Amino acid sequence: MLFSPEQIRKDFPIFERTVRGGKKLVYLDNGATSQKPNSVLEAETNFYKLHNAAAHRGAHQLAEEATQAYEGAREIVAEFLNAPGGSEEIVFTKSATEALNLMAYAMGNAHPGNRFHLGPQDRIVVTEMEHHSNLVPWQQLCDRTGAELAWFEVTPHGRLDLSAIDSVITPNTKVVSLTHQSNVLGTINPLEEIVRRAHEVGALVILDACQSAPHMKIDLAQLGVDFLAFSGHKALGPTGIGVLWGRKNLLEDLPPFLFGGSMIEMVTMRTATWAPVPQKFEAGVPNMAQAVGLGAAIEYLSSVGMDIVNNHERTLTEYLLQKLNSVDDLSIVGPNDSEARGSAVSFTVNQIHPHDLGQYLDSQGIAVRTGQHCAWPLAKRMGVPASTRASLYLYNNEADCDALFNGILGAQKYFGSF
Ligand code: ALA
Repeated sequence: MLFSPEQIRKDFPIFERTVRGGKKLVYLDNGATSQKPNSVLEAETNFYKLHNAAAHRGAHQLAEEATQAYEGAREIVAEFLNAPGGSEEIVFTKSATEALNLMAYAMGNAHPGNRFHLGPQDRIVVTEMEHHSNLVPWQQLCDRTGAELAWFEVTPHGRLDLSAIDSVITPNTKVVSLTHQSNVLGTINPLEEIVRRAHEVGALVILDACQSAPHMKIDLAQLGVDFLAFSGHKALGPTGIGVLWGRKNLLEDLPPFLFGGSMIEMVTMRTATWAPVPQKFEAGVPNMAQAVGLGAAIEYLSSVGMDIVNNHERTLTEYLLQKLNSVDDLSIVGPNDSEARGSAVSFTVNQIHPHDLGQYLDSQGIAVRTGQHCAWPLAKRMGVPASTRASLYLYNNEADCDALFNGILGAQKYFGSF
């Protein structure tokens, strides 16, 4: 069947409602969170209606079904990412933010002699285009261990400046943690060169795939990174579920982050030993319904086809950029063409504060994000205290882009009249 965003939209009940006094909902805030299809809502509800019990505990049928459902979701995620070591490499967390914090805290728990141990002689590398979840945990880890934080700068066109790659990723670099696709600029980063240099000096690469995994095919067997994090709710899934993928041998060496039930092998009054991965990182009764919902979301995306989702977004982003570039006094923050960029498009409109623009667009039924988008240092680097961001997904179409375009023209007229 031919791909049709209008057809896709029928699977998402939220598009049946109107906003702001009967206006059609034009949802362009997918970078913040995506809407959910019926199949995801039903998977989550059915888990509670039919199978609810604590996975990995209990000697009864419901506990067995809950375990199967939860572990089945792990298999689905492993296949979606083409994880070379299969589902044992998939750790469920509550969010991508928690997955990145897990990495930083677990490294902080490493003793001397463990490959993850950090000290003042070590360096952690990030980039200036990280959202706060992939920056602040590393700042804090550097504070706790004395390690040095370094970063790639961003060019005025919104690309990573790799001209000094060898002096940013130095021989004492232990970790390079970067975003695959910027949540503000849309920029897709060139991983090959960064992974090559990082591995040359023995550093591990952690990829924040929050804005890429929902929108493009991820093939971990090809990417070359060592860890990857993404969140379910940006990929049509529920909130409260995130994923950390890591190479099995690395997860085995990484100390645990959260301690408690299910993550142990044996406990005495003074000591404990750890369960095999991934359970070592999943203390407590897990977020089963959310994992099952994420499994349904991935099945939905896979049934459409990630290449089809990606092609649609690329074409629509080109259309959106063309429309926005035709607006007087509008500047795109980040790449102005569709080359190596995703569908998050941020912009400023002279004379109109982004918050005022956002409010005006909202009055027309158009949902966008405004502000610094949880990436304050990047806003500073780009010289914009705030911007307006439209971010697209598989259910958006040209009519949504036209609505945004007309909304901006309306705002110019409205605010120009004062
Ligand atoms: N990082 C998310 C966004 O860009 C929250 O909106």
